[in-house]
Amino acid sequence: MIFRQLFDKTSSTYTYLLASRSGGEALLVDPVLEQTGRYLKLLEELDLKLVKVIDTHIHADHVSAMGKLRDATRCVTVMGEQSPTDVVSMRVSDNEKLTIEGLSLTALHTPGHTSESYSFLMDDRVFTGDTLLIRGTGRTDFQNGDPYDQYHSLFERLLKLPENTFVYPGHDYKGDTVSTIAEEKAFNPRLNVSSADEYAEIMNNLNLPNPKLMDVAVPENLRLGLQLDAQHRVPSIEVEELMEAWPDPQVQLVDIREDNERKRDGAIPGSIHLSYGRFASHCAATGTLRSLSKNADLLIYCAVGERSTLAVEIANEHGLKGLAHLPGGFRAWKAAGGEVDVIE
Ligand SMILES: [Fe+2]
Repeated sequence: MIFRQLFDKTSSTYTYLLASRSGGEALLVDPVLEQTGRYLKLLEELDLKLVKVIDTHIHADHVSAMGKLRDATRCVTVMGEQSPTDVVSMRVSDNEKLTIEGLSLTALHTPGHTSESYSFLMDDRVFTGDTLLIRGTGRTDFQNGDPYDQYHSLFERLLKLPENTFVYPGHDYKGDTVSTIAEEKAFNPRLNVSSADEYAEIMNNLNLPNPKLMDVAVPENLRLGLQLDAQHRVPSIEVEELMEAWPDPQVQLVDIREDNERKRDGAIPGSIHLSYGRFASHCAATGTLRSLSKNADLLIYCAVGERSTLAVEIANEHGLKGLAHLPGGFRAWKAAGGEVDVIE
């Protein structure tokens, strides 16, 4: 496995790079905007293809590199389903698996620092974002933070993981890099409490100043996704137009979301499923899309329209023209009252 812990000095943020092998797919957790060039260089040096980027929560102390990395690599941006962001390419729910080639992470909803905070468990290690820090815990006094939720996330979720699980936090201000669940149970002063009330009492009296960048970082991080106007940079068919002619035998819908998302949320009836991760090969001379495009108008959709925008761009670069996508994606279809097929 390839594993790198990268540090941003200005915000004391840790970013994690994960991959199963050189030449394979990679994932980044909590990347920082100013470090984008460094990540891209490292990916190139290690011969890795960035396919997914996770933010554990909406950060208040730095601007995320998710948007810039998506624009540079067409990776899929991932957050928890409770994220207040309008557009994030893919949302995960509690206990859902998030995969890239050779690696699987389990999403754990661990609210408290913020309401949408997630941790990600991968075999012997857990990426705890700002929920559990080394000898500390993330503050709970803004962004729907709640010390009682955090107490539950810590004591009922994270501390119940095997004691030798490595803890990789989202920040460290003292230079520590890694801990374990056993170490934190024994030595983290915030966890040395006998009740949720006692924990809340500590957290409600920290009296910390707001992060310097908060007024910039939070609004920036809420709008990193491809909003509807950006989704119109490629040919599109609006959901109203699609529904009016529904079902239209001339239009072949292509769902490029992942299996998990389809099983969880359902799909538009009559759509075929092709993976976004292998979209370029679907567009190749012998690819599925190439032959389908001879007989029908292809309409690509994903969860919210971000991946489908990028997919149409990939198709165009491979000389496959005439594809359109559905702005707003499956979410817009559902909101407009469209039929939904259950996927087994
Ligand atoms: Fe945070």
